[in-house]
Amino acid sequence: MGESGALDFGPAMPTISYALAIPLIAGGLVARYLVVNVALPIFWSPVANIPGPSAPGFWGSNLYGLFNSKISWKLHEEFMQKFGRTFRVFGVAKFDQRLLTLDPVAIGYILRKTSIYQRPWPTKAFISSIIGDSLFSSEGLKHKCQRRIADHAFGERNLQSFLPTIFARASQMTEKWISIVEKSEDGQAKFDVAEWVVRLGLDIIGEVSLGVEINSLREKNNLLHETYTELFNVLLKRQHPLLTFFGIQVPRLQPYIPTEVFATLTRCKAIVHDFGMKLIQEKRRILDSAEKCPHRDFLTLFLKANTHPDVPYEQRMSDKELLDIVNTMLSAGSETTALAILWTLHYLSLHPEVQDRLQEELLTVPTYSPSQVCGEEEMVELYKAIDSLPWLDAIIKETLRLSPSVHSSIRVAMVDDEIPLVKPMVMRDGTTSSTLKVKRGQWIHLPYEACNVDREIWGDDAWEFKPERWNCLPEAVSQLPGAYHHLMSFGAGPRGCIGMKFAHMEMKVVLHQIVSCLSFRAVENLSIIKGTS
Ligand code: HEM
Repeated sequence: MGESGALDFGPAMPTISYALAIPLIAGGLVARYLVVNVALPIFWSPVANIPGPSAPGFWGSNLYGLFNSKISWKLHEEFMQKFGRTFRVFGVAKFDQRLLTLDPVAIGYILRKTSIYQRPWPTKAFISSIIGDSLFSSEGLKHKCQRRIADHAFGERNLQSFLPTIFARASQMTEKWISIVEKSEDGQAKFDVAEWVVRLGLDIIGEVSLGVEINSLREKNNLLHETYTELFNVLLKRQHPLLTFFGIQVPRLQPYIPTEVFATLTRCKAIVHDFGMKLIQEKRRILDSAEKCPHRDFLTLFLKANTHPDVPYEQRMSDKELLDIVNTMLSAGSETTALAILWTLHYLSLHPEVQDRLQEELLTVPTYSPSQVCGEEEMVELYKAIDSLPWLDAIIKETLRLSPSVHSSIRVAMVDDEIPLVKPMVMRDGTTSSTLKVKRGQWIHLPYEACNVDREIWGDDAWEFKPERWNCLPEAVSQLPGAYHHLMSFGAGPRGCIGMKFAHMEMKVVLHQIVSCLSFRAVENLSIIKGTS
């Protein structure tokens, strides 16, 4: 204390004004980021000794080729032959060095060890900015809790309770198609099956998720169908990468970024939010009241499971979280299954002999008709008969093998780790390594589709559509860790597709219903653009 009683801090401290400090700190952080993430990896990278293709220029990426459906299979094979089953690829530019592995043992290990290998933050941020925070983006305990509740909804008994919806919607679409064909003079009609099957996919998953009819097959201008179509289409639109970066980083900013992409996203998300929240409130009211709630849709099941006495209060989900889970089911479960059905119809149209044999087989099981009074038990019996048809089964597996709805996935290592391999890898310096050593932060691509068409595993005819291969598979196929008959189409491990059995059931019922009554031929000059996700 000085004599005057005022506080004495000794000699005046040098001060920097805020106006100067903020840009200095920001500049320092940017410089550090550039040195660590851009400059250093070009000259020194933990994966430098792993062989791989050269970078096509500083801003060049190997991913364009690997993701381009016209050359994807060929390029994966070419790189694998040159560099082995695990190789280094350049992501967005020369400083972004990633790994890609087609090694079945490595893939199985990565997909099992979910605490070490997680989805990279940009992937999670991107997904959450569109469908909210849910199974796709959550990790650790939060994911476990969400998955436990969701797994319950996909249990055997619940799945069976969805059969009436699937049969009813499949038959509704088939009747529409038959009426289109009947109106034609020669019993043939040309129309866009994709538009219909996408609507069917939404109606089915919407009804089993929410317990209300979506009606997009009936109504041409259906709000939910238009909203999801816009939501998916807007993601294909290009905008400045910096705007995308900020919009994904800070989703709250999206409504204020004046671009068509964010305006559409904001509007679509608001529609889904209002629609879902109203339903949640209504269902909660029914559950809380003395009214008996007969519904077994996902939303009702989640609401019930969430308030079960076994679920600790702190682990319960908020309405927003419940809505995000349902939104995830609608987004992940509609177009994926619709695509798989469409690819099957496409392969049938290209292989009339396969289609004829399928039609013969399908006729051994009666088709469902809405005029028949058919209880749930009878539907379960009918489904069991459809599910046991071997040729239909082989066709579905073969379609999911050649054209899986998900092209590939990606994980990042959260800690340094050693990944086991099917056989030692040869490094750039000629040494061999029996494991793949990775550093924390390493991104690893998992090419699901390329694994399904790997000729070293599936044989020389792996690129051909041959359902008969499923009678006798090569021994090597059993090495693949895929959840669905070793196929990687539904991923694997604790984060494998939760809707796999549901999708399988929907595909079988829908295909049985439509191919029993109609034959498909591809129109002339048909052009299919196969995207990759
Ligand atoms: C033919 C149809 C389908 C295919 C090919 C497919 C494919 C996949 C794949 C490959 C994954 C794993 C992604 C990864 O490893 O990063 C996945 C995850 C997931 N799928 Fe599917 N899916 C289909 C249908 C469905 C359906 C019908 C639903 C829901 C009703 C669904 C919901 C999900 C969810 C929620 C996840 C994330 C699981 C988690 O992270 O815990 N999918 N799907």
